[in-house]
Amino acid sequence: MEVIICEEYEAMSKAAARDIANVLNTKPNAVLGMATGSTPLGLYQELVRLHKEEGLDFSQVTTFNLDEYVGLSPQHEQSYHRFMHDNFFSAVNIPRQNIYIPSGTTSNYQAFCEWYERRIMECGGIDVQILGIGSDGHIAFNEPGSSLQSRTRLKTLAKSTIDDNARFFDKASDVPIYAITMGVGTILESRKLVLLANGSSKAKAIAEAVEGPVTSMITASALQLHPMATVYLDAAASEQLKMRDYYLWIQDKKPGAPAL
Ligand code: PGA
Repeated sequence: MEVIICEEYEAMSKAAARDIANVLNTKPNAVLGMATGSTPLGLYQELVRLHKEEGLDFSQVTTFNLDEYVGLSPQHEQSYHRFMHDNFFSAVNIPRQNIYIPSGTTSNYQAFCEWYERRIMECGGIDVQILGIGSDGHIAFNEPGSSLQSRTRLKTLAKSTIDDNARFFDKASDVPIYAITMGVGTILESRKLVLLANGSSKAKAIAEAVEGPVTSMITASALQLHPMATVYLDAAASEQLKMRDYYLWIQDKKPGAPAL
């Protein structure tokens, strides 16, 4: 796992965006795995800027989102369909038919989840999956105890996740209790993982995910099993890392390393 520590949020977002742009430049028809939440907003802003000002092209890109709340229509203000439209899809040139987001309103969740997994495979698999991390260490909505081999399925959200996300709703009781989410196993099959975290409220989860044991109690720790995972942090989110100085040392020395 590569750990990149930036001074603040904007630098972190730009560094992660450069990573995604490099994937697109070498593979214009890449399949991107998208995440929602406040963390990736800066990354999406920077990708939109690269599209508008530097011609970064999304016309052959396909996307799969990680998750969606059960019971929210695509038009609902807090649905992840709406989030993605407002914060990214409306500003870049991804063909509508190439955009996949789990349905929060299907009449058959099991069949939908199986279809979603199949579509990812049919599209060639995810080239780069963007991830945030919950304060309980989750990736997507894979709450503590989720199998590290789990696939796309219905999940009951943890109380702490509902509390964390209550800030987006009028009241905590409006936060959906269930979600449809890619599994940890689904995520691990992506060719490359890019996890972002900022702020001191994520510092403990990041330390556990990066340096703790691999455990289903912190599903982000599954990144340790992946051959190409990069974790982008701001200074506050990196505070509890025991090997922080070492990661900074590597960052500093990497440009001078012999070419492969
Ligand atoms: P956040 O959510 O980006 O809004 O902090 C991250 C997550 O729960 O995965």
